[in-house]
Amino acid sequence: MPFMKVLFFSALLANVILVVACHDLSVQEQPPTPTPFEYQAPDGFPPFFDPDNNPTTKEGIALGRKLFYDPILSGNNTIACADCHRQENAFTDPRQFSVGIDGIAGRRNSMSLVNIAWQHRLFWDGRAHGLEEQALFPIKDPIEMHENLSNAVAELQAIPEYTELFWLAFGTRQIDSTLLAKALAQFERTFISFNSRYDRWKLGLDSLNKSELIGMQLFMDSEKGGCAKCHSFGALFSDFLFRNNGKDSIVTDLGRFAISGLPQDIGAFKTPSMRNVEFTAPYMLDGRFATLEEVLEFYNTGFKLGPNTDPFMFTLEKGRLSEKDKADIISFLKTLSEPEILTNPAFSKPQ
Ligand code: HEC
Ligand code: HEC
Repeated sequence: MPFMKVLFFSALLANVILVVACHDLSVQEQPPTPTPFEYQAPDGFPPFFDPDNNPTTKEGIALGRKLFYDPILSGNNTIACADCHRQENAFTDPRQFSVGIDGIAGRRNSMSLVNIAWQHRLFWDGRAHGLEEQALFPIKDPIEMHENLSNAVAELQAIPEYTELFWLAFGTRQIDSTLLAKALAQFERTFISFNSRYDRWKLGLDSLNKSELIGMQLFMDSEKGGCAKCHSFGALFSDFLFRNNGKDSIVTDLGRFAISGLPQDIGAFKTPSMRNVEFTAPYMLDGRFATLEEVLEFYNTGFKLGPNTDPFMFTLEKGRLSEKDKADIISFLKTLSEPEILTNPAFSKPQ
């Protein structure tokens, strides 16, 4: 064979070897493609929301679920997210104040995480923007999980099962706190409740009784319940704005004011959704009311009017609700319950 030809063929051979070698490598290292999470919102409900930089996938949810139930994220590996956000209570805490790893109680009651995908300002005072940002707060919080992030990440990195789950969800075995937060956020976004009796009634698939229907009217009537003024009627039953609903004459928790510095935000907290409220006792940011009856009596006679109270509270007449009115409003609130949330195996502790 002439010299040029030999050169040509050996170059060709080298190329083939190179291509084969690369091909082998790429077969091994090609990141798996995660399966998108499919959720079809019923008619009239907001479409599923997730940010472009953290699309929800089956693999991300599976990882987030494991993390949500794993005490490894706390300083002494004793407390998981799920200890203060319990599925059987619609992902809230039945204790008035959630207790952290050192046995110290915080000063606020944990709220439900249901339909959290549609909320963008998180915590009672809205200090965290988005679930990805929020997820790292409780881990670092000295009263809650009291862990430093690099420690948590190092512990996870040492567990092959976790590195594999990160690989499947995010295409990397190099764990970091951003991915950790993304996985938790993906799992939390799947806690969706749009299938209560009220929803089925709206779609003509179920009926509501007289007390429930009267309760709904009272809830909306701005001279009676007045509730819908803040817990607005619609898919989410709140506009999630920050308000002072008149709990105290002297404010002990500054609430939104600590973030915004605006005087109208003194003692103002995020208006919560009314969905599944039957399961989320105790009530208010400080869990001061044990029952819905107590909450209704507060809105009937107990509220206090001060310089920072929401202006709408001034329009409500004290004692305007009869015993029957209050009971009807509570009957209506219970039509917003979706008990399946409490037992749905997709949300439970993974085996
Ligand atoms: C020790 C109890 C405790 C633990 C552990 C805990 N939380 Fe919370 N969580 C709370 C409390 C209390 C609040 C409300 C605090 C506030 O508003 O200042 C809260 C608020 C939240 C919110 C905001 C919800 C909203 O409607 O604004 C989200 C989301 C959340 N937690 C997710 C998590 C995740 C994820 C973890 C685990 C990484 C976790 N929590 C661990 C007690 C806890
Ligand atoms: C002026 C606005 C406003 C009106 C009117 C109003 N609420 Fe509220 N509601 C809020 C805010 C803000 C919170 C959270 C405040 C807090 O926790 O301190 C809240 C909290 C609640 C809670 C506690 C939920 C939880 O998860 O802890 C319930 C239950 C509730 N309201 C029911 C009602 C009912 C029923 C009515 C009508 C009788 C009503 N609200 C009228 C603003 C309002």
